[in-house]
Amino acid sequence: MNSILDNNAALAAQVSDIAEVAGYLWQRGWAERNGGNISVNVTELMDKSANNLLAFAQVQLPGTFKALANNFFYVTGTGKRMRYVAAKPMENGCIIRINASGDAYDIIADNNIAPTSELPSHISMHNYMRAVKGRNTKVVCHTHPTDLVALTHKKEFLEPNVLGHLLWSMIPETRIIVPLGLGIVPYNVPGTMNLANATIEQLDKHDVVMWEKHGCLAVGDDIIETFDMIDTLSKSAQIYLCAKQAGFEPECMSKTQMDELAVYFKLPE
Ligand code: 13P
Ligand code: ZN
Repeated sequence: MNSILDNNAALAAQVSDIAEVAGYLWQRGWAERNGGNISVNVTELMDKSANNLLAFAQVQLPGTFKALANNFFYVTGTGKRMRYVAAKPMENGCIIRINASGDAYDIIADNNIAPTSELPSHISMHNYMRAVKGRNTKVVCHTHPTDLVALTHKKEFLEPNVLGHLLWSMIPETRIIVPLGLGIVPYNVPGTMNLANATIEQLDKHDVVMWEKHGCLAVGDDIIETFDMIDTLSKSAQIYLCAKQAGFEPECMSKTQMDELAVYFKLPE
């Protein structure tokens, strides 16, 4: 079967990176059944002929996302398993094109696969990052890391900055690789605009957020780096839980030690 990737090496390379990360999500045990979803803005990689591609179906979006008008995204399919996205990304995901008004999309390639149920969330976040934050972040990656989700079951960790600071204090890398810390989004029904709007509030200050009792979501410029942020937070969560399982409270890096890293590595505020 012909694929949109056949004559577009740049797009094929991007989809290959997405497949690589989908494999990591599965290998890490963060992607039970269809758990998690990925969207990547591929507009800059599309060639002009993409505009002539026939659409399978046009679908209304739950709002108008002007900053994404005429943009193209690779998105994983709803109900699709990450382990299969890893093996066959174009059979378990699709390329969508947002229309000129920013209020609908059509699926243009390769197959008529319905995008993730979290698409309203993803699209709102891409739109927010561009229109309000003025950043050209291309990736939204959502997954279900067991250790991080476990920590959202403890009430005191849901207070602003508590969990983020705890995870920073486990290992220097977390302070460096996730310099904007961790936002907390209260529990909401998956796939709803309530969840999307609550997430956007947190993206004002953070690039990674926890969805209480559900999962983790990161925005970024590059799918591999987005995975790396979640992976580093997960490492910190494992160190914390490992110490607790061994029966002691971890000492944690001090605030002075963490501030010293911020100065040394010129980390953003
Ligand atoms: P989808 O299969 O629709 O992407 O849903 C998975 C998920 O993790 C919902 O939050
Ligand atoms: Zn989820």
